[in-house]
Amino acid sequence: MTGRQRAEGEGQVVAVRADRPPSPTGSGASRGIVAAFLVSAAGAVGFAAAYGLGGGTRWEGVGLAVAFAGLAVGLALWGRHLAPGGGYVEEHEGFAPAPDEQALTAAALTAPDSPVRRRGLLAALGLALTALGAAALFPLRSLLPRPGARPVRALGETPWGPGVRLVDDNGRPLRPRDVPADTLVAVFPEGDAGAGDAPAFAVRLEPARFSRPPAGGHLDGLAAWSLLCTHAGCPVRLYLKGTGRILCPCHQSSFDLLAGARPVAGPAARALPGLPIEVGPDGFLRATGDFTAPPGAGFWDTP
Ligand code: FES
Repeated sequence: MTGRQRAEGEGQVVAVRADRPPSPTGSGASRGIVAAFLVSAAGAVGFAAAYGLGGGTRWEGVGLAVAFAGLAVGLALWGRHLAPGGGYVEEHEGFAPAPDEQALTAAALTAPDSPVRRRGLLAALGLALTALGAAALFPLRSLLPRPGARPVRALGETPWGPGVRLVDDNGRPLRPRDVPADTLVAVFPEGDAGAGDAPAFAVRLEPARFSRPPAGGHLDGLAAWSLLCTHAGCPVRLYLKGTGRILCPCHQSSFDLLAGARPVAGPAARALPGLPIEVGPDGFLRATGDFTAPPGAGFWDTP
């Protein structure tokens, strides 16, 4: 629709002004629009691939940004180059469309050069929106159990169990000689080092100094306990050399490892749970069971 057109119906006046004619079909603008929508689709596919392959939030964000940017550019070019330009003025007394207005609208939508009749553009737009919609379904997979994930553990159970080897911060299995005398070594269950309730520590003490044996037993003075404070769950990594005591930095609870890791100062009320250990046939330290008590904060024990 070009130039200025005016139509009058029953009690209604419709005036449409289109100062700029749309570009002809097949112009460079059309190709640019299709390209933008294809880029949008590629971005959506990239997002889905990054999510599916575990590429990280950075690449997922890049994919989404490309998808929406392509969509925005395509729609902007479409409106800028193919839609009729200029302003529109519509005056009417009622809301019911007049027959003349309906005729004008129908003519605009069915004209051969109507932007909404360009199949290539509509197909590209449909592809971009379909790809975006499909990509949006991928995060739903996060609601499903991960393949190979272990079933939910009961409260009080940790990844420690018979045969689980002790590894250090770098995932390296530990031998007894890797735990020096009177030095704290943080240990984790092999294969599940990230479990929040599993951190533990090992210390080698003089066996004759134990006034109460460690709950998990010891290997010639080498014993292990939970690293989580029994007050509120902070890591208790402040070992006082020579004293056999370990401090929690959060609220200054102190545990006496020579006396069963019982609390001797601060708000903690429970002893640190012990971790029973042994030396496996391969010479590495391994657990013989879970902690001797639930690790970490013991709010549920409070009467
Ligand atoms: S968390 Fe350790 S004393 Fe409070």
